[in-house]
Amino acid sequence: MTLFLADDQSPLWSQYTGTWVVGAVGEIVLVATLIGSRPSTSVDFDNAALALQILRLIFLLALVGYALFCRWTTESSSTKDVEVGNNGAPVEESPLLSGESILESTTTAGQLEGRQYGAMNGTSNSEDGDDDDEEKEAKELEKKLIEAGGWWGYVKGFSLFLPYLWPKKQPKIQLYLLLIGLCIAAERVFNVLIPRQEGIIVDKLTQVYGTGELPWKEVAFWFFLKFLDSRATFGMLQQFFEFHLDNWSLRQMTDLIFRHIMNLSMDFHVSKDSGELIRAVEQGSSLNMLIRMLLFDFGPIFLDIGVSLFYITYLFDDIYFACIMIVSAVFYAIATWKGNIWGARKRRVNAEDDRQESKTKFESISNWTTVSYFNRTRYQHGRLMTSLENMIASSTVLFNIECAVDAARVLSLFLGYLCVNFLAVYRISQGTKSIGTFVTLNSYWNVFSGPLWYLSYLSSDITTHLVNAERVLQVLKSKPTITDSQTARPLRVENGEVRFENVSFSYDKRKDTIKDVSFIAKPRQMIALVGETGSGKSTIFKLLFRFYDVTGGSITIDGSDLRDVTLSSLRDAIGVVPQDASLFNTSIMENVRFARLDASDDEVMAACKAACIHDKIMSFPDKYKTKVGERGVKLSGGELQRVSIARVILKNPQIVLLDEATSAVDSSTEAHIQDAFRKFTEHRTTFVIAHRLSTIMDADTILVVDKGEIVERGTHEELTSAGGKYQQLWEAQTTKVKKTVEESKLLLDI
Ligand SMILES: Nc1ncnc2c1ncn2[C@@H]1O[C@H](COP(=O)(O)OP(=O)(O)O)[C@@H](O)[C@H]1O
Ligand SMILES: [Mg+2]
Repeated sequence: MTLFLADDQSPLWSQYTGTWVVGAVGEIVLVATLIGSRPSTSVDFDNAALALQILRLIFLLALVGYALFCRWTTESSSTKDVEVGNNGAPVEESPLLSGESILESTTTAGQLEGRQYGAMNGTSNSEDGDDDDEEKEAKELEKKLIEAGGWWGYVKGFSLFLPYLWPKKQPKIQLYLLLIGLCIAAERVFNVLIPRQEGIIVDKLTQVYGTGELPWKEVAFWFFLKFLDSRATFGMLQQFFEFHLDNWSLRQMTDLIFRHIMNLSMDFHVSKDSGELIRAVEQGSSLNMLIRMLLFDFGPIFLDIGVSLFYITYLFDDIYFACIMIVSAVFYAIATWKGNIWGARKRRVNAEDDRQESKTKFESISNWTTVSYFNRTRYQHGRLMTSLENMIASSTVLFNIECAVDAARVLSLFLGYLCVNFLAVYRISQGTKSIGTFVTLNSYWNVFSGPLWYLSYLSSDITTHLVNAERVLQVLKSKPTITDSQTARPLRVENGEVRFENVSFSYDKRKDTIKDVSFIAKPRQMIALVGETGSGKSTIFKLLFRFYDVTGGSITIDGSDLRDVTLSSLRDAIGVVPQDASLFNTSIMENVRFARLDASDDEVMAACKAACIHDKIMSFPDKYKTKVGERGVKLSGGELQRVSIARVILKNPQIVLLDEATSAVDSSTEAHIQDAFRKFTEHRTTFVIAHRLSTIMDADTILVVDKGEIVERGTHEELTSAGGKYQQLWEAQTTKVKKTVEESKLLLDI
C-alpha cells in the first residue's frame, strides 16, 4: 500500500487513514480477545498466530503514523508557501483560490529555474544543441505514446515489426518455433516430476530405514528425469533451435533497418548524426531480444507459476499454500513494477548519457585532424570526461534504486517461503502429510521462486531493450520524402535535354533558396553555372539529381518530369562529381570500380587515364592497390577529385554534373583534364559549376546565379561585353592573373 502511495502526487489520505484507523481498532480488539481466551497450556501454533496478529497490528499502526506524518509535512510546507507567496499582502484581500494560484506561481518559478539550469547544462555539455534535439525527440515520442493510447497503443506501435519477425513461408523456421515450444513444455513437466520423485524417495527411505533395502527403482527414475532435464538433452536442443532462430531474426532486422535508413532521403540524413544511426542499426537486436523474451521467457514463467500454485495446493490438499504464495508473488510483483517505474526514467537518462558519451568519443576520434589543428585535445578530453562523469552519476542512481528494489523483493519472497514451510511443518507434525512432501515442497519452491527472480531481471532487461527499441522504432517510422510515385516509369534518356521551368525550392519554408529558375540544356550542350558561394548552384544539382523535390515549377529530362520516373533509373542516368567527394577506405581500384561493379581492371585504368590520374597512381608504391584512408584522406585534394572524375567516366552516364570538380587541381593539370573531358562530354549533356572562369569559356550557355536567381545568361563572349556581374568577375580574375604573371616576371628579373 505504502509503495503504491509513496510516489502518488495526490493520494486520498483522509480516506486511507480512516480505513487504517478502523482496521487498527479492529485488530486491537482481536488481539485482546486472543490474549484473553488463550488456553493456559499454550500451543506453539496459537503463539505463532498471536505473533502474526500483533505484526498485522504493527503494520496498520505504522501506516496510520506514516499517513499522519505525510499530512503534517505537506500542511506545514503549504503554509510556508502561502506565507512566502503573500509577501506581506493582507490575508483578507487575497482571492479565495490564493493557495492554488500561489502554488502555480511557485511551480512556474521552479520550472523556469529548472529550464535555466537545464539550458546552462546544455551549453556546457555540447555546443551544437544536440541535447536539446534529443530531449525534444524524447518528449515528442512521449507525446506520441500518450496519443497512441498508453501501453496498449505503445505495444501496438511495435507490431510494425511483427511481419518481419514472423517466419511466413519459412517452414524450417516455423518448425524450429514448434520444437522450441515442445522443449519448453517438456521442461515444465520435468519441473513437476523431479521434486515429486525426490519426495517419493524420501518417503521410501523412511519406510526402509535400517532394513538395507534399496529403493533403486525410484532412484533410477529420478536419475533418468534429471538426465532428460539436463543441458545435455532438451536444454541443448532448445539452445540449438533458439540459436538458429536468433540468427534468422537478426538477419531480418538488420535487413529491415539498414534498407530503411539507406532509402531515407537526404533531408533525413543531413539532420542525423551518422554515429547515432549506426547505433540504431545495432540496437535493432534490442527488438529481437524483446520479442524473444516475450515468447520464450515470459510465457513459460507464467506457466510455471500457475502450475506450481496448482501443484502445491494438490500436494497438501490445502488452499492456504496457494494463498500465501499468491500474496508473496503479488508483493514481489509490486516491488518489481514500482521499481521499474522509478527506474525507467533514470534508465532513459542513463541510456541518453551513455549515447552522449559514445558520441563525444566518436566525434573526437573521427575529427582528430580538426581537433589537432585547433589544439583542442584537452578541451575534447574534458568534454569526454564530463559526459563520462554524467553517465557514471546516472548509473549510480540507477544502481541504488535497483538495490533497494532487490531488497524489497527478497524480503517478500522470503516471508512467503517462511510461511509456507511453517504451514507444511505444522501439517506434517499433525500426521496428515508424509515427510516426503516437505522435501518435495522445498525442492519445488525453486520452480515457483526461480521464475519470479528471472521475471524481475527480465523486466529490467525489457525496459532497457524497450528504451533502445524506441529509437529504432522512431527511425523506422520516419518515411522517405523522396520516393517513386505509383505510376513511376524508368527514365529513358534519348537525347538528354534538361529543362528547368520556373523552379523554386527552399530547405526551410522561411527562406527561398532557389527562386523561379528556368533554362533549357539542349542535348549534348555544356551548361556552366557561376556565382558566389552560397548562391544555390549545388542546390540546383541536388534538385536535378532529385535529392530533394522542387517546391514549385518542374524539372524534365527528355520531356519526363523527374517525379514521374523511378529514382533508380534517374540515378543511373546522371553522373555526379560532388563538391566534397569522398571515397571508401579501400584500394583505388575498388573505389573507381564502385561506379560499375562489373568493370574490368583495364576499363578502370582507362577511366583513370582519361581523368589524368593514371600516371600518378602508378607512381604510388602500391599502385592501384593503394588504400585511400577514411573518406580518402590519404590522397591530396586534387588526386581525390581526379579519382572521383575517373569514377564518373567509368559510370558512363548520359548526363554529367561537375560541381567544382577541378577546383583543387593546378591549372596545367586542369587543362589536361579538360582535353580528356572534352571527348567524354562531347556526347552528353554536361553541367559544370566552376569558380575559375577560364575553365568554362567554351560552355554553350553560362548561367550566372545570384541569391538563388539566374541574373545573367549567355555565352562567354556575350557576357564579357554585357557589363554585368559576369564581366566584373571576369575582369577581377584576369587582372589577378595578369598581376601574378607580372609579379613572377619581376621576380625573374631580380
Ligand atoms: N541541407 C541544407 N539545409 C539547409 N540549408 C542548406 C542546405 N544545403 C545548403 N543550404 C543553404 O542553401 C544555400 C545555397 O547553398 P549551395 O547550393 O550549396 O550554394 P553554392 O552556390 O555555394 O553551391 C546556402 O545558403 C546554404 O547555406
Ligand atoms: Mg556548392
